[in-house]
Amino acid sequence: MIRVPHARPSITEQDVERVAAVVRSGQLAQGPEVAALERELAVRLAVEAAAVVASGTAALELALRALEVGPDHEVLIPSYVCDALHHAVTRAGAAPVLVDADPETLSLSAKDAEARLTRRTRAIIVPHPFGLVVDLAPFVALGVPVVEDCAQALGAPLGGRPLGATAALGVCSFYATKMIAAGEGGAVIGSGRLVARVRDAREYDEREALAPRVNAKLTDMQAALARSQLARLDAFVARRRAIAARYRARLARADCRLPVEGDRPHVFHRFVIGLDRDPVTVQAALAAAGIAARRPVFRPLHRALGLEGYPEAERLWSSALSIPCYPALADGEVEDVADSLLAALRR
Ligand SMILES: Cc1ncc(COP(=O)(O)O)c(C=O)c1O
Repeated sequence: MIRVPHARPSITEQDVERVAAVVRSGQLAQGPEVAALERELAVRLAVEAAAVVASGTAALELALRALEVGPDHEVLIPSYVCDALHHAVTRAGAAPVLVDADPETLSLSAKDAEARLTRRTRAIIVPHPFGLVVDLAPFVALGVPVVEDCAQALGAPLGGRPLGATAALGVCSFYATKMIAAGEGGAVIGSGRLVARVRDAREYDEREALAPRVNAKLTDMQAALARSQLARLDAFVARRRAIAARYRARLARADCRLPVEGDRPHVFHRFVIGLDRDPVTVQAALAAAGIAARRPVFRPLHRALGLEGYPEAERLWSSALSIPCYPALADGEVEDVADSLLAALRR
């Protein structure tokens, strides 16, 4: 039986009360809570504006549309990432071009991105994977708009500013296990001009033209939870960093590779270790001890598409394992995970 799940949101009575107040008010759909969340996000992330939408995946798609990405365009995305990025590009009508991984940042390789640029490249999506902060400068230098995917790294600073403020547009996710949880939800952040396009695109009704549209709105119930959680973002980040530091100390001499610390202020949405054996064997040993670990990426996109030429993404997929790391984890559970992992690695 699993005693320590791989992820678990931190929910307080105040979170419950904030949602209950919205339910009692009868104003359930997008309304004042969404508008307030947009204002608070813009202030917290030091951007001109934020548009709150139904999910991080919808936010990616609408960010690309706001940048006028469409048919005949290519968008560079990592191969070693969740499928959301591929869906967002194809739904925008463009062609995803996969880029190999950077083994140090676990995001895409700037060198391989440059090699795959063509005249049709219209944007690059750069995730800060697993809460590991990536330097955007080499991507910005490629000369096409960068969409900064902050789904797993909300709350981190980059170059003295909050993450998400330096690219053409930034994207957030409020999925249940993310840095702040609303069940589902997302946002596009950036200039007022581009964010206004996203606000328009999330609506399906009351427009003269009958072009295809989506309903990508968030409810006020979810926005109330996101606002309540946003107020605790700094505390969440501090707790994740403390857990990561404890794992780093406990696993210092273990037979595994630890996340590269460098000088970047990572927020550890996941704590991903590298193994020289099949991660599934260690995952099974941890499960037998009651601890849920997971491959951090289900499978790299190039595998789904039957493509070759992604050796680093392949290596990461066959060596990486994510162990529980979230603010709701008690100190005793952190030690339990470390003890069980050390035992599994000694086997
Ligand atoms: C890097 C990244 N981008 C985008 C998404 C999509 O976010 P959502 O689940 O809110 O649609 C995810 C979800 O896991 C993600 O990890």
